[in-house]
Amino acid sequence: MRTRPLKVALLGCGVVGSEVTRIITTQSDDLAARIGAPIELAGIAVRRPNRVREGVPAELLTTDATALVKRGDIDVVIEVIGGIEPVRTLITTAFEHGASVVSANKALLAADGANLHAKAVEHGVDLYYEAAVAGAIPLIRPLRESLAGDKVNRVLGIVNGTTNFILDKMDSTGAGYSEALDEATALGYAEADPTADVEGFDAAAKAAILAGIAFHTRVTIDDVHREGLTEVTAADIASAKKMGCTVKMLAICERRPDGRSVTARVHPAMIPLSHPLASVREAYNAVFVEAEAAGRLMFYGPGAGGAPTASAVLGDLVAACRNKLAATTGAGESAYTQLPVSPMGDVVTRYHISLDVADKPGVLAQVATVFAEHDVSIDTVRQQGKDGEASLVVVTHRALDSALSATVASLRTLDTVRGVASIMRVEGE
Ligand code: HSE
Repeated sequence: MRTRPLKVALLGCGVVGSEVTRIITTQSDDLAARIGAPIELAGIAVRRPNRVREGVPAELLTTDATALVKRGDIDVVIEVIGGIEPVRTLITTAFEHGASVVSANKALLAADGANLHAKAVEHGVDLYYEAAVAGAIPLIRPLRESLAGDKVNRVLGIVNGTTNFILDKMDSTGAGYSEALDEATALGYAEADPTADVEGFDAAAKAAILAGIAFHTRVTIDDVHREGLTEVTAADIASAKKMGCTVKMLAICERRPDGRSVTARVHPAMIPLSHPLASVREAYNAVFVEAEAAGRLMFYGPGAGGAPTASAVLGDLVAACRNKLAATTGAGESAYTQLPVSPMGDVVTRYHISLDVADKPGVLAQVATVFAEHDVSIDTVRQQGKDGEASLVVVTHRALDSALSATVASLRTLDTVRGVASIMRVEGE
């Protein structure tokens, strides 16, 4: 084994960074044996050096992250700060000074992954980010390496623990959205400002990363259609139950049937209780991958938290260190298919639509005609009438999202349709 240590710099020492430090310092012998050389934590860049951080050597702390990545003797930089800038500049500077980078930064990778990969190649170093998607769950490496010889057609996942916790509470207790969000906040799952989670930005960034790797193309967060879960009601959940379904916030990346483009979207959807994703409870994550030769694969586990995220970071660190020792780099970006991302209107799926209508002769026929005019085929209709009004639940066969939108727009113009109470896609069948 080489005795000269590989030097590691850590950018950020919050919940994840502290766990990374703990593992590097307490598991040093095992890590050295697995890598083939010891690793030395050479510096930790933080904003507040005086904050108490148990188990973090105070003498390693610095507020000058730029100087740390510019030292020139750092082999691997671990970035767990998050956000776009100054992190993008720090990572680029690390590459320029010969360091590989391990990052947990989904926002940056989903916004500018292509440029960062290009910079890593230019400087002959690695860029790894297993921790950026679904915490501890191995996903990036299986997609990039284990499935490199297969053809992935679909990635369907629960990649945000906060929203899964909220929907699980709504499902198991009958609570409304606000009540479930309050519980998620009280238990520390939801942030004080839960926007990134509940509006789907966090999941959209992860979907962009997964779609790019799965389909060997480039997908950014701006390519991902996104709908939050703030409008999901207890009535939607009850309606899903009546259909033998549950509601989950899903990230869905698909190769379109003609093979000429892909789609990526994040939105709440009904899935059958028989689908493996339906049983993913509380704040857990799970990703279902459909590949041509492998068939259906399910990846499940904790998608957030200090130790689980640190596990993914350490896996990347070991890989990057092994590559450094071998003077090589691992699998980088593969975007050769150059498949474009189609808009949401091109997505084909099933829909569950709840309408409030007048309960009088001919209304059902009128509504059915609107669906037919837009080439949307109805699978089932359920009606419940009360005092001259009725609630009508229509479930369609698979149809184009653009056709469904046009159907709903026409339905809204009918005098007999008092309102469109909810529209939800039905997935996983
Ligand atoms: N806030 C995310 C979640 C974890 O709730 O899953 C970090 O991506």
